[in-house]
Amino acid sequence: MSVAALRVRPAWALLENHFQKMQGLHLRQLFAEDAKRGEKFAVEAAGIYLDYSKNRMTAETLQLLLQLAEESGLRERIDAMFRGEKINVTEKRSVLHVALRAPRDATIMHDGENVVPQVHSVLDKMADFAVRLRSGAWQGHTGKRIRNVVNIGIGGSDLGPVMAYEALRYYSERAMTFRFVSNVDGTDFAEAVRDLDPLETLFIISSKTFTTLETMTNAHTARDWLLAGLNGEEKAIAKHFVAVSTNTKEVAKFGIDTDNMFGFWDWVGGRYSMDSAIGLSTMIAIGPENFRAMLDGFHEMDEHFRTAPFDRNLPVLLGLLTIWYADFFGAQTVAVLPYEQYLKRFPAYLQQLTMESNGKHVTLDGTQVDYDTGPIYWGEPGTNGQHSFYQLIHQGTRLIPCDFIAFMQSLNPLGRHHDMLLANVFAQTEALAFGKVEEEVKAEGTPDWLLPHRLFAGNRPSNTILLDRLTPAALGKLVALYEHSVFTQGTIWQIDSFDQWGVELGKVLAQRIIPQLEDTAEPKLEHDSSTNALIRRYRKRKGS
Ligand code: F6P
Repeated sequence: MSVAALRVRPAWALLENHFQKMQGLHLRQLFAEDAKRGEKFAVEAAGIYLDYSKNRMTAETLQLLLQLAEESGLRERIDAMFRGEKINVTEKRSVLHVALRAPRDATIMHDGENVVPQVHSVLDKMADFAVRLRSGAWQGHTGKRIRNVVNIGIGGSDLGPVMAYEALRYYSERAMTFRFVSNVDGTDFAEAVRDLDPLETLFIISSKTFTTLETMTNAHTARDWLLAGLNGEEKAIAKHFVAVSTNTKEVAKFGIDTDNMFGFWDWVGGRYSMDSAIGLSTMIAIGPENFRAMLDGFHEMDEHFRTAPFDRNLPVLLGLLTIWYADFFGAQTVAVLPYEQYLKRFPAYLQQLTMESNGKHVTLDGTQVDYDTGPIYWGEPGTNGQHSFYQLIHQGTRLIPCDFIAFMQSLNPLGRHHDMLLANVFAQTEALAFGKVEEEVKAEGTPDWLLPHRLFAGNRPSNTILLDRLTPAALGKLVALYEHSVFTQGTIWQIDSFDQWGVELGKVLAQRIIPQLEDTAEPKLEHDSSTNALIRRYRKRKGS
């Protein structure tokens, strides 16, 4: 299906017109006019309840956004992804993270081959390793039990593993310690291992390419640290290092036994890889059964996304509402506010997923876009954020659509804590939507001069995303929900959500600058005057 440029799709013009009417409408009015609005604009699927009624939209908005999805070829594009077509056009790659969680008997073709058996063979190998490690059958070089697992990776090879470990810590093997090293700042490594015994420590070097500067630097430092604790015995590497990568050659070059390498494929993007072998640390922490339950959760959401009609399709609705605010209301950001302490790294995880995917300025054929693409995602767990940045969301000058995420049951029920937590979720969405009018503030005895400060305009949109309990499956569903929302957005913007050329330039320039910082001879500097001066200053003042 050939898709017209976004601004000339009929639904776009209709939405532009419709927006003129909508921008002046208040959520107070929309709720007053329809006593059933709260139920009408709510959907439940795959164990997730999405209340999107507190958005600045009507049935007409929804119908136009759905029309836009159709005109954008979303249906065809979803099918193309699941069929293994090379929809990542700039890298000529398929986008098949959905195959990572397909059941054993499924068939997903890539270049004429069903990839599902390969996926399950890696999962089985991971499970075997995880069981041996957790049971103590896999021992360190001196025969000591491995008690510490350190994942070294960055970006998608770190954020998913950290987020999932924190999210599922409740299910984790508490007798083991899990650490994550990503930053090339030596402090990250130093602090991660300072209280660990090398004889009891396993490093997982996670890197799709096995060439990433930060990861390789940290991996070599880890090697030195281990050998220092093991009298330089090179043989020890085999028992204390495993790799997760697509690059067998580089893994072998590093000295890791390729029998202890867990593979994945170039059709898995880094930010879509937490459910591939990149999740090895997660599997070791929570055990293979829980890991498989997480994959089943992902799969349930995949199937929902693939088959549900768009008007009841959670990722589609979430994606369309993001477009509505980003492109019509001019919202620059989306706040993700999990009211669940275990999800404390979820916003950071989503930042790579959403912004590396949709931070693009040209369409698939290279044309400069004339509309805004991916918004900035950010957030912190509630209720902490309430005592920090919520002031700006409530009374600032910017429109910030919010996703509130909460669970009906606490994993750590303690007295009244959970009721209080959830009361805050509901109170925040209510306060944002309806605000507080002048009469109410006056009735509280507020003097006139203080009135403007105490008024809450309201009309600030939010989604409320509710799940019963933070299980491994629930986490899988939640991540897949956002993955497919990103896909929906990218399809409408007609961008490649699966490449990341924007991160390359900085990497290349850093490689050029490293020797200029390290050379003993004064380097010839040919940068701009600012960069030259910064380099000179560093050279003069750096420690030995
Ligand atoms: O710098 C961006 C990036 O390529 C991400 O997309 C990726 O997740 C990360 O670097 C790490 O890459 P690798 O797994 O190859 O080390």
